[in-house]
Parts: sequence; C-alpha cells; structure tokens
Amino acid sequence: MKGTNHTRVLIADDDTLVREAVRKILRMFGHEVVAVPSGEEALQQLSAEIDLIILDINMPGMDGFETMRQINRRDLGIPVIFLTGVGSMEYAVKAINLGAYDFIPKPIEDLDIFNVKIRRAIEKRMYVLQERVYKENLEREVKDKTKELAEKNRLLEEYSRNLEVSALNTMLTLQTALEEKDMYTAGHTIRVTNYAISIAQALRLTAGDIAVLEQACQVHDIGKLVIDVNYIRKPGSLTGEEWALMRKHPEIGANIIKPLSFMQQELFIVRHHHERLDGKGYPDGIGGNELDILTKVITVADSYDAMTSKRSYKVNMDTVAAIAELDRCAGSQFDPEVVRVFTEVLRNGNTTGVAF
Ligand SMILES: [Fe+2]
Repeated sequence: MKGTNHTRVLIADDDTLVREAVRKILRMFGHEVVAVPSGEEALQQLSAEIDLIILDINMPGMDGFETMRQINRRDLGIPVIFLTGVGSMEYAVKAINLGAYDFIPKPIEDLDIFNVKIRRAIEKRMYVLQERVYKENLEREVKDKTKELAEKNRLLEEYSRNLEVSALNTMLTLQTALEEKDMYTAGHTIRVTNYAISIAQALRLTAGDIAVLEQACQVHDIGKLVIDVNYIRKPGSLTGEEWALMRKHPEIGANIIKPLSFMQQELFIVRHHHERLDGKGYPDGIGGNELDILTKVITVADSYDAMTSKRSYKVNMDTVAAIAELDRCAGSQFDPEVVRVFTEVLRNGNTTGVAF
C-alpha cells in the first residue's frame, strides 16, 4: 500500500483456473495482484509491499499451512486468507491456530461476500501498519526524550560540579588572602595540607579519603575570616577574651561550609580540627573513637605547623623539638599511631619543604 493508492494482493494457488479467476475478481475490485502457483513462489514474492495474502491449502510441494508458517517467521503483519474447497473442521482449526484471518470457500460464488472479506482483511492490514508506525514513532520519541534527559542530567551534573569547584575556590582565595595579610600565618594552609596528605598516604588511606582530607585542610581555618585578624597578628600573648574568640573559628568555619552539601565530611573535620584524643579540645570536647582518622591526621599536621612556624606571640620550635612535643602529647592530645607515622614521614623527608 506504500506510495500508492492500490492495495497489493498476493495469491498462491496451483489451480490455474482458480488463480486466474481470483486475479480477475481482485482486479475488478481495484487491487493489484501478484498471482503464483506455489507456496515457494509466494515466499519469493513476499515483501512489506503486500497487503493481503490468499493461500490455497492443498498445493504440491509446500502446502498452504507450511507457507503460512514461513510467512509468520517474516513477521510482516500481513493478513492471510485461506482459499478452501475442503470443509474439514481439522483444517479450519489448524489455520486458525496459525493465525489465519479468514476463509474463502472455493469456488467463489458470492462476489459481495468475497469483496467484504477482502476489504476487511485490508482494513486490518491498515490498522497493523498504522499501529507499527505509531509504535515506531513512540519508541523513537521515548528514545529521543531519554537521550535529551540524559544530556540535561549531564549538564546539570557538570553545572553542579562547577558550582562546587567555584564555591571551594572562593573559599580558598579568601583563606589565602587572610593568611597572606599576616607574615606569621602565610603558607600555613599549604603546609598543613602537605603534611596531612603525607600522613594519609603513609597510613594507606583511600584516594577518596585523601581527597576529603585535602579539601578539609584547605578550608580548615576559614572560620578565622570572621575574626578580627588583629588578634591573630597581635604581638604577645592573647588575653582570655581574645583566646575565647579565636577558639570559635572551627565552629564558624563549619557554619560557613554547612550550606555546601558536597562538603559534609569536610565539615566534620573543620569543626573538630582542634579537638584532642582525650576529649579536652574544642569546640565539642569529643575524643577517642568519636574522632575519625582524617580529623586525627589534621590535628597532628595543624599542630606541627603551628609549633614550627613563627607566631606573633611565640618563638617557633625546630623540627626536633616539635617531634619531641608531638611524642609527648601522643596518647593525650594526639593519636599515637598518627604521630608515629608522621615522625617517620618527617625523618624520611617525605613531605614537601621538610628537611630533617
Ligand atoms: Fe585552626
């Protein structure tokens, strides 16, 4: 039916008289006809351009049933009508089981009934074709929409990753600016990050844990942004009130990070980077197993850098003295295993900028 208004009917009957009679009738009703004398030739002529197949049952070689079985395998959705001179029930059941659409008794006596049967079968063919086109369109549409959705999802993920990166970069810029304003703290974040990563690698922590630790180190003192930096730079010791304010920076830092859903693990580390193993640290006084390994690592790295850097209110220790101090505080302030590993790292000179 494609590309033409005519319907094309394929008829297979070994009886020339019947075949030619059916051909004439079909032409009279305006159909194109392909008439063949056998099942084998019917299969050769079979294509999606055929709208209806009329099969004789008894044919030499491949009979009508076998021909229909082969037609079914092609799954073209073409209705098949059997031409039958045999009024056997057994034949009818077999044909129905094979999916035959209708029967036309031979000889054809009532042209009106014949015409109705043919038209009905062709209408059925039209429905099948429309349904197939509809299904194909629907499948294509679903496929297109799925693809479109996946692309939107990818863009969204990329956008959200970019947002994460830019949020982190903003914080890093602010923190670096804060540190650079003060000669005593310049480079603190970078050094703490390097020490912490060296310890984490020596502890054989996972790449995922190390990435979290790195990000946490980069923003661990972000809370100092909202504290008057004059306190940090002030020569001499801080007063009790000034210390109290300084001690708020882990909490403030955690509050700054809180809205960033992708940094919830880092938030814990930032909040607790001044806690102690014995629970005497701040802000929450948690210790022991309440502190995760990443927090235990940053406390050692952070304290070591504080000890070895010059601060406005104290003279810096050398590496030997700082290691001795870490050892002294292992088990109370620091996790002994982390201290042991860090000492080893320092002795082997495996951290950036550390010579021992
Ligand atoms: Fe800190």
